[in-house]
Amino acid sequence: MEESLQDQATPTQKEDFLPINGTDYIELYVGNSKQAAHFYKTAFGFQSVAFAGLQTGLKDRESYVVVQDKIRLVLTTPLKGGTEMGAHIDRHGDGVKVVALWVDDATKSFEETVKRGAKPYLEPTTESDDHGKVVKSGIHTYGDTVHIFVERKDYKGVFLPGYERWETNYNPSETGLRYVDHMVGNVDWGEMNKWADFYANVMGFTQLISFDDKDISTDYTALMSKVMSNGNGRIKFPINEPAEGKKKSQIEEYIDFYEGSGVQHIAVATDNIIETVTALRDRGIEFLRVPGTYYETLLDRVGEIDEDLEPLRDLGILVDRDDEGYLLQIFTKPIEPRPTLFFEIIQRKGAKSFGKGNFKALFESIEREQQLRGTL
Ligand code: FE2
Repeated sequence: MEESLQDQATPTQKEDFLPINGTDYIELYVGNSKQAAHFYKTAFGFQSVAFAGLQTGLKDRESYVVVQDKIRLVLTTPLKGGTEMGAHIDRHGDGVKVVALWVDDATKSFEETVKRGAKPYLEPTTESDDHGKVVKSGIHTYGDTVHIFVERKDYKGVFLPGYERWETNYNPSETGLRYVDHMVGNVDWGEMNKWADFYANVMGFTQLISFDDKDISTDYTALMSKVMSNGNGRIKFPINEPAEGKKKSQIEEYIDFYEGSGVQHIAVATDNIIETVTALRDRGIEFLRVPGTYYETLLDRVGEIDEDLEPLRDLGILVDRDDEGYLLQIFTKPIEPRPTLFFEIIQRKGAKSFGKGNFKALFESIEREQQLRGTL
C-alpha cells in the first residue's frame, strides 16, 4: 500500500528535496528501559529485537529495541546522573525524544534542511560494524524533540551498529499493529503556525487539512490543528496548539505536564481493529470511552459500515467518514503517570483524514478524565 501511494504521488510532485522512505524508529527516553520494554512486549505485543548497554560496551545508557511489523521503538535510559537524557526525563517524564526518518541520503537530508533553517542536532556521522555501515544525521524540531535521518542501505545488522540481537525466552504474540500512520505534536501557545511553516519550508512538507477552534471545541477544550505531510504521504505530522476554552484544554494540560512542546500521540495502523483492540484490552491497555449514546446515532452519521455495531460499542471503537471512505479509531489513556503521551489505534477503510467527527465526543471523554485528575 505504501508503494502504491508513492507511485501515485511522485510524478505530480515538484522535486522533493527530502525524500523519506518511512518512519525508521521512535526513541523514547524513559526512567527504566528494561521495564518499559517488558511493557511494550506484554501489553502491545512488540517483539524483542536488539539491545545496547554495558554488555555491548556502552558506558552511559542502555537501550532496548522492540518491533512490530514496521513499527520500531527504542527505549533508552541513562546509566548515570547528570546526563542530557536524565535531564530530559526529569523535565518531561517518559516521552518521545527522537522521531527517526528513513532516508537514502542522510548527508543530503541534513544539508538540505539545515540550509533552509533547521537547527543541527547531529552532524552527518558514519557508524559501522561487521554488518556494514549506517549514516545518521539530525535536526531539532519542536520542544526538545529531534528528527534523526537514518541511511541504512549499506547495513545488514539487526538494528544499528553497536546493537546486538536481543535473545529472550519471553516472546508474547503480536496484536496486529502494522505501521505508524501519523504522529501528533502538541506545541506551545501560538506556535502552531511556526511549526507548520517549519515542516513546509525546512522539510518540504505540504499542509493536508486544518481546522480551528470553531470546529473543535467543547465547553472546556479547544484546539487548533494543521496536518503536515511529506511528498509521498508516508509521514504525516498533525500539529496542535491549545486554544482558549472555558477551562484548561487537554492540549494545555499536556503542555503543562510535559513542560513544553512534544509528541502527544503515536497512531499505529491495524488491518483488524476489533481483533487488535480486543487483544490490547485483554493485555491491560486502557482506552478512552465515549458515552454509549455515541453508538445510537453512529450509523446516521457515518452511513453503512462493514463492521457489526456491537463489538465496536463493546470495545469503544469510534468511526468517522470523509469524502474518500471511513476510518475506525480508538485512543489509549496516557501510558505514563503524567497525562502526556498516548497511542491511537487506527484502521483506514478509504478515509485519509484523522477522525475530526469524533473529536467532540472524545474531548468530552477526556474532560471526564481531567475532572478525575483535578486538572480541568
Ligand atoms: Fe491521531
